Amino acid sequence: LTLDKRSLPAVAEYIKSGQAPRIVAMTGAGISTAAGIPDFRSPTTGLYANLAALNLPEPEAVFDLTFFRQNPQPFYVLARELYPGTRYRPTVSHVFLALLARKGLLHMLFTQNIDCLERAAGVPPERIVEAHGSFATQRCIDCKVLFDGERMRKFVARGEVPRCAEEGCGGLVKPDIVFFGEALPRDFFDQMQRVSEAGLVLVMGTSLQVHPFAGLPDMADEAAPRVLFNREEVGSFGTRADDVMVLGDCDAGVRKLADALGWGQELEEAWRA
Ligand code: OAD
Repeated sequence: LTLDKRSLPAVAEYIKSGQAPRIVAMTGAGISTAAGIPDFRSPTTGLYANLAALNLPEPEAVFDLTFFRQNPQPFYVLARELYPGTRYRPTVSHVFLALLARKGLLHMLFTQNIDCLERAAGVPPERIVEAHGSFATQRCIDCKVLFDGERMRKFVARGEVPRCAEEGCGGLVKPDIVFFGEALPRDFFDQMQRVSEAGLVLVMGTSLQVHPFAGLPDMADEAAPRVLFNREEVGSFGTRADDVMVLGDCDAGVRKLADALGWGQELEEAWRA
């Protein structure tokens, strides 16, 4: 079933031919592991395999709203690790996405990541759907009033749990990242149709385990080739004639595609900049 790497030059030809002006990308934690941020589900290096010290009923509880209400501390231990700042640099994969945008080829990028590295790489914000939210804003889970960003930064740095400053509230403050049991941002549903408009779909660094995001690649038109850059086969990849699986390190796969497009040098320069 596995289509081999020889299909990548065909994808490059397709892009160069101008038949695929609308590229929709879908990304997950795997595109940020090369930046030093752990993913969730990789067997030994993933966050879920390393949360034992936090005494959680199950690893996913760290992103569970019901659990958070009872015990917000584990989340804030993790938040300290994941909080975007200057610590992490975009990877080759992020920079490739920015390059697609610069060339007017990126129709939309759907990301599950909360590290904001797509923005840092230069993908215009209007081309990004942060499907699982981000650390950019935060609010009280009870009265929903926004909490100040600078104060938040200090709490996170100390690993402390911030509480709502509104009089008589004192509810728990949580970054606007999507927890299990919460709805995805409206933007996700508003932009979902972009997937069916795509001439080419790129899926990078995600296990496609979490719905509704995991359903996006299946919304692609049958005529639109789907390319997977990932360490393992995921989702329904391999069931369509035009699926291409580039298994292995996603930066390496992306470099191969960039080379086939004649963008290799441009990519390296943009990445080093
Ligand atoms: P996962 O950890 O579930 O999946 C990461 C995927 O990337 C796996 O298939 C890895 O094999 C692959 N991978 C890791 N490093 C790679 C690399 N350098 N090159 C290629 N592939 C690599 O992460 P997500 O799919 O993003 O939700 O997880 C989805 C959601 O589950 C997250 O958004 C998070 C989590 O619960 C929330 O935080 C709300």
